[in-house]
Amino acid sequence: MSAVRVGIHDLSVATAGHVLALDDLAAYDGTDPAKYRVGLGQEQMSVPGPDEDIVTMGAAAALPILHTHGADGIRTLFFATESGVDQSKSAGVFVHELLGLPATCRVVELKQACYSATAALQAAAGLVARNPAEKVLVIASDVARYELDSAAEATQGAGAVAMLVTADPALAEIEPVSGVHTADVDDFWRPNDSVNAVVDGKLSIVAYLDGVIGAWEDFRARGGAPLGEIDRFCHHQPFTRMAVKAHRRLAEHEGVALDEELLAVTTGYNRRIGNSYTASLYLALAALIDADDDLAGRRIGMFSYGSGSVTELFTLVVQPGYRAHTRGAETERALAARTPLDIARYRELHAATHLDSHADLQTAHESSGPFRFTGLTGRARRYARTDA
Ligand code: CAA
Repeated sequence: MSAVRVGIHDLSVATAGHVLALDDLAAYDGTDPAKYRVGLGQEQMSVPGPDEDIVTMGAAAALPILHTHGADGIRTLFFATESGVDQSKSAGVFVHELLGLPATCRVVELKQACYSATAALQAAAGLVARNPAEKVLVIASDVARYELDSAAEATQGAGAVAMLVTADPALAEIEPVSGVHTADVDDFWRPNDSVNAVVDGKLSIVAYLDGVIGAWEDFRARGGAPLGEIDRFCHHQPFTRMAVKAHRRLAEHEGVALDEELLAVTTGYNRRIGNSYTASLYLALAALIDADDDLAGRRIGMFSYGSGSVTELFTLVVQPGYRAHTRGAETERALAARTPLDIARYRELHAATHLDSHADLQTAHESSGPFRFTGLTGRARRYARTDA
């Protein structure tokens, strides 16, 4: 009996409705703009309005997939996020309702900083391998937030990726070997009473780079492909220069030269969206398949990092004909549709994020996306579809 080929059949991107230029942030905080553009490799960050969050972005990312493929066969929705909107209820349940998915569906939220979308993808692959008639919707959605006026502020952002995992995928097959690595590190976390992440930036870079090698060694020990047989790499991009640091560490470890030029194309969306935690690695993949038309049959190394820390390195093989299934034009439209913010409005939006759930609330209708967070009643979050 031949093994079932399982992988990513469709992949769609969404982001928040506002955008801040990092040159404006640099002018405001007295930083040389080259530090953000070159040192961090970031140009812009997406910023959610008062009626946007991980649910509205996640549902917006998944909607085009539902339009193309319908909901038939989807029996699982995994929602991966660091920036959950409730301590108990999965953000995926709100999305399930907004998208009109069948009641015969399991829905759960997964958390491990920026890593959990990869755990979701692997779990999805396992479910589909067990029953190839089933499909799994994986959504990764996050709002990356740090304290105003902190060193981490320039590495904020917001975005979501939805992926349909199926048998005989049109975009990329997930290869079975995977390397994993866990180490308890206090590099980045978010206490239950904080809307901003707490971060030790320098330690986080060290922990990330240690995780690259830990996952790589496990990957190789389990029979994963050698570097020479991996054609492209996507690395988690908290800021896009981090991908270069990861690549250099891998090259030093293996004593080879790795082509850093090939990474540039993977940064196309993250440079403009900023950090989107769980979605970041898959935004790198989206940027790669949207921009490169010579990937059929090529193997892509995927490095996933979640502070705290858990890492995973696995590979995809891009499928023949994948170009017919990419959604680059839609992503460019979403990026272009964002409303530019000046610093004063950006700081206002940042300060307004904490909501007291004891008071009923109606949010201002600012978003032009297909879904809105409409407010709070009876301490519960309410959402609406705006394009129906
Ligand atoms: N022109 C060009 N480059 C410049 C420059 C200039 N004028 N000024 C500085 N730079 C360069 C620096 O040399 C440095 O580059 P190298 O690291 O290659 O040396 C880069 O710009 C950043 O400068 P600093 O190290 O001085 O920056 P910083 O200390 O102010 O903060 C940071 C950088 C630690 C990344 C901070 O933004 C931060 O804490 N961010 C959040 C944490 C984070 O993203 N960590 C990444 C790994 S953890 C992870 O991946 C999980 C996650 O998603 C959070």
